[in-house]
Amino acid sequence: MSDYLYTLESHLNAAQSEALATVQTAANEAGLNLFLAGGALRDMIAGFPIRDLNFVVEGNGIALAKAIVKKTGWEMAAPDTRRNRAELLFPQNVRVEIAMAREEKYAKAGAKPTISPATIYEDLRNRDFTINAIAMSLNRASKGLLIDPNNGLGDLERRELRTVSKYTFYDDPVRILRLIRFAKRFQFTIDERTLQQYENVRDANLERKIGAEALRQELHHIAGEPTSAEIVKELDDQGLLTLFCPAMMGDKVNHAGLQKLQKARQNVALELNLPVENMGLFLTVLCEKLAPKERAGLKTACALDKPAVQAWERLDGRVKKLAVELKQPKMTKPSVLYGAAQKAQGAELVYLLYKSTDRTVQDRIKNYLQKYLPAAQEITDEEISEATGIEPGSAKFEKAKSTFIAKRLDARPKKIVEPEAVMPPAPQHPPLVSSVRR
Ligand code: CTP
Repeated sequence: MSDYLYTLESHLNAAQSEALATVQTAANEAGLNLFLAGGALRDMIAGFPIRDLNFVVEGNGIALAKAIVKKTGWEMAAPDTRRNRAELLFPQNVRVEIAMAREEKYAKAGAKPTISPATIYEDLRNRDFTINAIAMSLNRASKGLLIDPNNGLGDLERRELRTVSKYTFYDDPVRILRLIRFAKRFQFTIDERTLQQYENVRDANLERKIGAEALRQELHHIAGEPTSAEIVKELDDQGLLTLFCPAMMGDKVNHAGLQKLQKARQNVALELNLPVENMGLFLTVLCEKLAPKERAGLKTACALDKPAVQAWERLDGRVKKLAVELKQPKMTKPSVLYGAAQKAQGAELVYLLYKSTDRTVQDRIKNYLQKYLPAAQEITDEEISEATGIEPGSAKFEKAKSTFIAKRLDARPKKIVEPEAVMPPAPQHPPLVSSVRR
């Protein structure tokens, strides 16, 4: 087994491994060359937790995704037919992207590219940064072989962000926002030539060519970043935040709120696989100081769709009932608290941690996230089957499972203690692109 294959296997959790095997089998059956690439590979090599699995096929990505959905019943998000790319949501919050290996040609800066099927080598040549332009073969004859035409491995080792070509930002100016985001996420430095290219793009005001759809996607990415507060601060310092919302400047930007939200989110450990709808949560806090008219400016600039707007505008109202419920005396019983919190959405729990000044509400949410939910997740179906004699897969089993979990939780010490945050606090970053321009 190649070293990289071994590293991959030891890096994935059980649910991700299952997703990997499922995609591999489907690609095999369809006779398509399959590669792991982009963020998944970068994060694996650098030793960061793998968030999404990014696959590339030399062939039809959407058709492969559809074949998997047909076989497994898993959910497919709106496919991107232009790029022949689809996202699948596997069990336990595992997100998988399957994309066609493609070449993108830009007639001018920020223009819609012409897209055509390509080999994996051509695909990697078209990517933004060298650390994102590495692929690993998952094909029988060459499984585990690393394809790294731009020496992304070297840049990962040096902890440096470097563009793949001198046209990287000109072709697709949203990549200057990605540069800032990755620099803040990984605390990587930026290669000197890349900094110069950034300067050139800013001098030519090419950031104005970033389309609403690209801004919406970038906002979505920022919302999910563990260091979103630092990213927003840098975008503000660089005069780029107004792209997302013309009124977003000066004391209208809720920097302190974003720092507080960042801290609240650290209570949701990655291993919990708890889905959190980050966009609504992030926008609620980011736009706290904006007037309704100014918020409308953000909706237009980023072409926000209705579900995103609703998630944002309804969150504050939604948590009020939950806060009252969590304060009830019966919530001292772990199983009752667990049952109530299970019904809440991840974003609601995090938002209450951000917003509520009530100590009891705070402690109960932390107890759920840090004690009861992990304890419940440790219980396996086999364990329940053995204890109850009921086989998984029926309504009867689900009922027995709830009773089993409740019993286990109530057997634990009931004393409520203020738990420590389970993840280390976000690092205080040194200025990164701040040397670029002010
Ligand atoms: N990409 C690019 N230019 C863009 C957007 C994406 O070149 N404007 C490429 C990058 O190579 C990236 C891949 O497409 O690795 C997948 O994009 P995305 O999912 O946005 O980024 P990831 O690198 O997977 O990072 P993340 O961890 O944020 O998901």
